[in-house]
Amino acid sequence: MNKEKVGRFYDIVWTEYIPEYEESEKHWNMFYSAGEIHDKTILDAGCGTGIFSIIFANNGAKKVTGIDISEGSLETAQHLKKKFNLDNIEFRKEDMLMLPFSDEQFDIVWAWGTVHHTTDPLGAIKELMRVLKKGGSLFLAVYKRTKVTWIHELIRKTMVRTPRKMWTGLSKIMAFFLAPVVFIFKKREKSRKGEKLEELILDWYFVPIRHYYYPEKVQQFLENHGFKIEKHLAHSGRFNSSSNFIYKARKY
Ligand SMILES: C[S@@+](CC[C@H](N)C(=O)[O-])C[C@H]1O[C@@H](n2cnc3c(N)ncnc32)[C@H](O)[C@@H]1O
Repeated sequence: MNKEKVGRFYDIVWTEYIPEYEESEKHWNMFYSAGEIHDKTILDAGCGTGIFSIIFANNGAKKVTGIDISEGSLETAQHLKKKFNLDNIEFRKEDMLMLPFSDEQFDIVWAWGTVHHTTDPLGAIKELMRVLKKGGSLFLAVYKRTKVTWIHELIRKTMVRTPRKMWTGLSKIMAFFLAPVVFIFKKREKSRKGEKLEELILDWYFVPIRHYYYPEKVQQFLENHGFKIEKHLAHSGRFNSSSNFIYKARKY
């Protein structure tokens, strides 16, 4: 049920939004290079509108499988694939909690900002670990729990209870009041330019499922499952944001 709600949500929010290619590739390059992914099989779990699948495919991956539960996002991803004229990508509708892939199938599993939108984020990570080959790398960007998480959650839990048809209007009202705060405290997000503040608010405060973690907990979980951390960022830096932390970890 919740999963369906998340899928429907991303059929509306982000469904046509494609983050900028150059900015996204710069961010991707902090973790992978064309040399490292050459001839490798990639799973982009929760690919959304597909920008990172495109980047992997364009940088020489053998085959990229982008999966998501939002049909709307996958449709946009298909258009993007056509635009880039790439034939080493497959986009399909799948749930990352129950992947239809055999054990140790992929060389690299990439999940940017996705496991925390599932009903069971640690279960999702386990499933991603299962389909990853020994010696392969798992990439995770996950929402960070902070001292003010409870305030964001209070707002989000209130907002998701309002009737769906009011969401666009409510996000516009919130954007009106929050605009000066955002202007003072935050530079406009580079690779998200083109997106209106009300759209960011919709993504932030109206998403049906959202979990937050302490980085140490995710690190411990990875290490307990035989993974070695290769790279950790306390703040992802993508979109100039500090809301996600990142781990790149290798399976031993
Ligand atoms: C914030 S978007 C991130 C999209 C993309 N990874 C990116 O960074 O551009 C989160 C995505 O996770 C997807 N998602 C959430 N739960 C999922 C699940 N159980 N299985 C597959 N995809 C899921 C959503 O539909 C949405 O497209």
